[in-house]
Amino acid sequence: MMANSLRNKTILDNAIGVFDSGIGGLSVLTEIRKSIPRANLIYFGDQAHVPYGPRPLEQVQQFSIAISKFLMAQGAKMIVVACNAASAASLKELRRLFPQVPIVGMEPAVKPAAEQTLSGAVGVLATPATFQSELYASVVERFANGVNVFQSTCPGLVNEIESGNFAGEKTRKILEEALLPMLANKIDSVVLGCTHYPYVLSIVKSIVGPDVRVINPAPAVAKQTAKLFGQLVGASYTNPVPVTEIITSADKQKLIETIREFFPFENHISNAKWVGPSLIANVTQ
Ligand code: DGL
Repeated sequence: MMANSLRNKTILDNAIGVFDSGIGGLSVLTEIRKSIPRANLIYFGDQAHVPYGPRPLEQVQQFSIAISKFLMAQGAKMIVVACNAASAASLKELRRLFPQVPIVGMEPAVKPAAEQTLSGAVGVLATPATFQSELYASVVERFANGVNVFQSTCPGLVNEIESGNFAGEKTRKILEEALLPMLANKIDSVVLGCTHYPYVLSIVKSIVGPDVRVINPAPAVAKQTAKLFGQLVGASYTNPVPVTEIITSADKQKLIETIREFFPFENHISNAKWVGPSLIANVTQ
């Protein structure tokens, strides 16, 4: 109800638009909310198209451009691409198309992993789109010189997480298949290179044990977002009732069920619909 009334009456003031293919970027949104309590946040999860990982980069780029335009039309003055796959596919193009808009993106945290490894071996869990990208290749080339980087696409994991299977047998099996060979190769860090994966952090930790560091870049992304937001609105900006609004391109009720245990946001969830290549806010669904 509340989301509908917000949507009908107001364009959110100085909002930060955050997006992902689905619920993954909510792990980043949570960190952003902690870092910037006063900001209005509009989150878009493209659950009509999830997963992005197996899709061609060009297609993910088209989605990202349309979503960014949509978020700006809802009042976003800056954009956080809370998705490694979408960042890999579109960050350069988004910055070219919208030079006036601060855009924060994500890349797998290979740098801190490579800087701190003692064993000389690190693991990266990400989706195929991320691994295929120039952005990932350049991160590995720049920061992981002399370090063995073991990769896994964790096939099927994003779908399990989207259906709310955060701790079941299938989820554990996918992660064991990814991580056990990496452990055999003596990794001492594992990078969560997909924003969906913090949902299964406890399983990852239970598989790798206490001696392997698990790196989630979300807090660093939130820190960068806070810095750019501060520059955008200035130190005197106040917002007595900061709003967090979540929009999905798929089933709103299903989203509420899936994220219930993590996010108390259900009064602020609404729908948008893809119409051809564009998104429109759909308050009636
Ligand atoms: N959460 C996304 C990422 O960080 C993508 C997951 C997917 O849709 O494949 O890469």
